[in-house]
Amino acid sequence: MTNNAKVVELLKQISDKIDENAQFLTELDAAIGDSDHGINMARGFKKVVEDLPGVAEQDIGAILKKVGMILVSTVGGASGPLYGTAFMKAGGVVSGKMEINADDFLEILEAGIGGVQMRGKAEKGEKTMLDAMLPALDAMKAAGTADTRAMLDAGVAAAKEGVEYTKTIIATKGRASYLGERSIGHQDPGATSFTVILETIAEAY
Ligand SMILES: Nc1ncnc2c1ncn2[C@@H]1O[C@H](COP(=O)(O)OP(=O)(O)O)[C@@H](O)[C@H]1O
Ligand SMILES: [Mg+2]
Repeated sequence: MTNNAKVVELLKQISDKIDENAQFLTELDAAIGDSDHGINMARGFKKVVEDLPGVAEQDIGAILKKVGMILVSTVGGASGPLYGTAFMKAGGVVSGKMEINADDFLEILEAGIGGVQMRGKAEKGEKTMLDAMLPALDAMKAAGTADTRAMLDAGVAAAKEGVEYTKTIIATKGRASYLGERSIGHQDPGATSFTVILETIAEAY
């Protein structure tokens, strides 16, 4: 079980990890985008941490919705609305809950990824964050919630494989799609930032 205070702690850890990886994420975006993914994400999560004291006592649904609203208004680019929608949708499935378990976590992830798909209209294989998200979700569902450690490890492994897969395909959504075949050989920044977030969650467990 994870309570709201732990979720707040986790969001701080995610912010730190995104900050540590900001330059790397921006370098990835420099290769196939406009060099802002790391900067954008770091700015957004910094604001999340700044604003957390105001919502830290609330339920996990309210906290996640607030995170989503902050990300929408501070991250910008394509990924701001996408991650923002993800957190808002994720919050919607745990409204009122002060504690969540592994089953709730899978629901959170499923709703969040559904939000990304709804907003961005992308599918698997278009070299986006979904190429890490969808395999991670599938792997965690397959692993099951009886052993949370094993479930999270399976998710991280699948997300990492998804990132590797993005190197082999052409971008057909987002800014990287302007490059066409020249996007091959480069890993997707958004798939990478999602993997960083999931890894942080797995490490914290
Ligand atoms: N339609 C989409 N669906 C899902 N993810 C997308 C979509 N378009 C872009 N992305 C993700 O957004 C990332 C780029 O984010 P970012 O650099 O912050 O925004 P921008 O491309 O506007 O500069 C990409 O690496 C990709 O993972
Ligand atoms: Mg960019």
